[in-house]
Amino acid sequence: MFKRRSVVRVGVIGTGNMGKHHVRVYSGMDNVELVGIADINRARVRHLASLYNTKAYTSYHELIRRERPDAVSIAVPTTMHKDVALDIIASGIHALIEKPIADSLKAADEIIEAADKEDVRVMIGHIERFNPVVEALKDIMPELGEILTISSKRLGPYPPSIKDVGVILDLAVHDIDVISVLYGKHVISVNAFAGNSFRNSNRHDLEDYATVVLRYEGGNIGVVETNWLTPRKVRTLMIVGTEAVAHADYITQNAEVWKPECTITVSVDRQEPLRNELESFIRCVSTRAKPHPSAEDGKKVLAVAIAAINSYRKQEEVRINDILS
Ligand SMILES: NC(=O)c1ccc[n+]([C@@H]2O[C@H](COP(=O)([O-])OP(=O)(O)OC[C@H]3O[C@@H](n4cnc5c(N)ncnc54)[C@H](O)[C@@H]3O)[C@@H](O)[C@H]2O)c1
Repeated sequence: MFKRRSVVRVGVIGTGNMGKHHVRVYSGMDNVELVGIADINRARVRHLASLYNTKAYTSYHELIRRERPDAVSIAVPTTMHKDVALDIIASGIHALIEKPIADSLKAADEIIEAADKEDVRVMIGHIERFNPVVEALKDIMPELGEILTISSKRLGPYPPSIKDVGVILDLAVHDIDVISVLYGKHVISVNAFAGNSFRNSNRHDLEDYATVVLRYEGGNIGVVETNWLTPRKVRTLMIVGTEAVAHADYITQNAEVWKPECTITVSVDRQEPLRNELESFIRCVSTRAKPHPSAEDGKKVLAVAIAAINSYRKQEEVRINDILS
């Protein structure tokens, strides 16, 4: 006898660049019913709803009142995460909030407290944790000897839809999360160098290039280089150990280990990271297990990103404990 797995009723709020991929992936999942999607852009939400055979709403309040989903993805602009998340959590609905959790630590705390109070599961969309190439690097790390530095490059052209945050909150957060996961350690302090090139949008108060140096417990170093100035998308990670160096490309999901005598290709079981992430979220909703990255994990990454912004503005090293106190 097969036991039928229960179907999770899901919605998506915000169907722009990222939200449309949540819609596509949920619509193809076996144990999920995509009950409706919401976006204030009527044409956008209607078009997607007809493509994926679901209901379109221009108000997310209406979506949750009419459809009563068990869980939603929240993919509205970052500065709106808190308001939407608090409404969703107050309705007893589980939430996958796109990265970063919010644009301030106070907002992150409000989300964490509300989720605890309502006993709902909140996951943060730090998608690169679910990239199989990161998993493969984790497995080969013991072969590299003592790890000295992990550095990433996340470069590309300016995405005109991002108007509310700079490149540190938008892009550097991905690698702050991955490097911390790979080390299995917390960042102690941050030194960042960043600025605005005056080439992007009219938000000259927000940085569009940054190099963020992370200092970890035990002296390990992380370096995140990111910008919205590079015509081609670059997404790479390098782990420097005393015995060997590993190099990976997040986009192609190729990875190699470079040794003095040879180069070894790392075997990677290529999969779509968003699919892995949403499957993990749905499993947690079904089993009521705590999701990872949790809201608390998302807050830790946000604290490091805010420390980086403070560091480049004040031109000094910033300790994470000073940000959190
Ligand atoms: N994980 C990733 O790799 C990744 C990639 C891109 C963006 N993101 C995150 O996704 C979020 C959205 O970014 P984006 O690039 O998709 O932006 P976007 O502007 O393309 O999409 C945001 C959508 O939200 C809609 N919206 C705004 N207010 C709304 C409301 N009150 N109700 C319903 N819909 C509303 C907008 O109309 C728009 O369609 C951001 O937090 C961003 O950091 C994550």
